[in-house]
Amino acid sequence: MVLGRTVTRQRIPASLVVLALFIGSSLRWFTMMATSTTAAAAAISSVMPKIGLGTLLLERQQVRSTLLQALELGYRRIDCAPVYFNEDVIGDVLKEQTIVNRKDLFIVSKLASPFHKQEHVELALRKTLTDLRLDYLDLYLVHWPIAFHYVPIDPTKRGFENEDIDDSDGGKNIDPAVSLLETWRGMEDAVKKGLVKQIGLSNVPGKLLHELLLWNDLEIKPAVLQVELHPYLQQNRLVKYCMQRSIQIQAYSPLGTPGYKEDNEPVLLEDLKDIATSGTPAQVAIAWALQRGTSVVVKSTSKAHLKENMEAVDIVLTDGETNKIAELNRNYRFFRPKGKLLLLHFDTLFYCFLANLIILYKTGGDQRVPCLARQRTEWQDDHYNNALASTQQDTIL
Ligand SMILES: NC(=O)c1ccc[n+]([C@@H]2O[C@H](COP(=O)([O-])OP(=O)(O)OC[C@H]3O[C@@H](n4cnc5c(N)ncnc54)[C@H](OP(=O)(O)O)[C@@H]3O)[C@@H](O)[C@H]2O)c1
Repeated sequence: MVLGRTVTRQRIPASLVVLALFIGSSLRWFTMMATSTTAAAAAISSVMPKIGLGTLLLERQQVRSTLLQALELGYRRIDCAPVYFNEDVIGDVLKEQTIVNRKDLFIVSKLASPFHKQEHVELALRKTLTDLRLDYLDLYLVHWPIAFHYVPIDPTKRGFENEDIDDSDGGKNIDPAVSLLETWRGMEDAVKKGLVKQIGLSNVPGKLLHELLLWNDLEIKPAVLQVELHPYLQQNRLVKYCMQRSIQIQAYSPLGTPGYKEDNEPVLLEDLKDIATSGTPAQVAIAWALQRGTSVVVKSTSKAHLKENMEAVDIVLTDGETNKIAELNRNYRFFRPKGKLLLLHFDTLFYCFLANLIILYKTGGDQRVPCLARQRTEWQDDHYNNALASTQQDTIL
C-alpha cells in the first residue's frame, strides 16, 4: 500500500514514458514479426509434403501417365512452372483425375522473369491458373531473381504458342529497372487477393535473401526458398541461414539432374553407388536431403523410380553414409545461367549493389528501405557472415 501510494505520487518523466512506449511497441513489433514468420513457416512445413514431383523436361505426352502414377503412389506436391511449357497438360490431368481432392494437393508454380513488374505478377499468375485449371496455388515462387522485359501474354488463353517468355538469349532481355522488392510486392498482392496461399523465392543467393529480409516493409516473408541442392552442392551456409529464419528449403535436382546434365559432367548417382548402404543411390540422395531438414523436388517418368524415390522418406542414413556424403561437396552447380545472367546471378555483391542503385533511384532515398540507410561496405561478406554467426542452429549435415 505504502509503496503503491509513493509511486502514484511521483511524477514520471515524459522521456521515460516515451522510452517505455517505444520499447513496448518495438517488442510487440518484434514479437509480431517473429510470430508471423515462424507461424507461416510452421504452417507451411505442416502442410507441404516433403517430396514433390518435378515437371521440368516432362514431355507433354508423358504428363498424363507420370502424373496419374505419381498421384497413385502418394505424391501430393507437384512442382510446375510456365517455362516448362506443360502446365496446360498438367491442368487437364489435374481436372480429370479422381485420385485426390484439390484440397489435399499442394500445387507449386513460379513467376517467369518477363513478369517481374508489380502489375504483371497477377497477369502471369492468372495465366498459370488458367493453364493449371485451378482457382489458387498453394505456393508461388519467383523463379529467378532477375527481371526480363515484359512479353505480352493472354491470361485467359491456355498454353503458349511460342516460347518467348523463356527468351533470355544470353541476358539481352534483362530489365534492370525492376527490383526484387517491386516483384515481391506483386507477390504479396497475389496472397492478399487469395490467388496463392504462400509465396517464396527460387535461385536467390544468400546475400540477396538477407537483403530482402532486411527490408522493413515486407508484409509477407518468403515461406520457401527453392534452390539447386545435392551432395555436390550442399550450400551449408544457405541452409543454415534459412533454418535460422524458419524458411523452408526445397532442394531441386536432388539426384544431380541426370536427365539435364551434360555428358562431361559428374554423375552423382555413380558416386553414391560406393556410399549407399541404406538404400539405392537415389534413395540415399533423397534421404540425405530430408535428414538435414530440407524438402525435395525430384522428377521421374518411371513408375519404378517414382516408387523408389517416395520410399526414401523411411530411410535413416548411417553415420558412415552421412560422413562420406559430406566429402562429396564440391560446390558444383548443374544449372548455370549464361552470358550477362551469369554475371548478375553469381556476383551477388554486384547484384545487391545494382538492386540498391535501382531502389535508390526509384524511391529517392526513401528511409523505409533500410538497406539504403546503410553504408555500401556493410553489404560485404561480413554482414551476411555476422547474421549467420548469430545462430545456435548447428545441425546441418
Ligand atoms: N527452380 C528452378 O529453377 C528449378 C531448376 C531445376 C529443377 N527444378 C525442379 O526440380 C525438379 C527436379 O530436378 P531435375 O529434374 O533437374 O533433377 P533430378 O530430380 O535430380 O533428376 C531427374 C532425373 O533423374 C532420373 N531419376 C529419377 N529417379 C531416379 C532413380 N530412382 N534412379 C535413377 N534415376 C532416377 C530421372 O529419369 P527417369 O524419368 O528415367 O526416372 C530424371 O532424368 C525439376 O523437374 C523441376 O520441377 C527447379
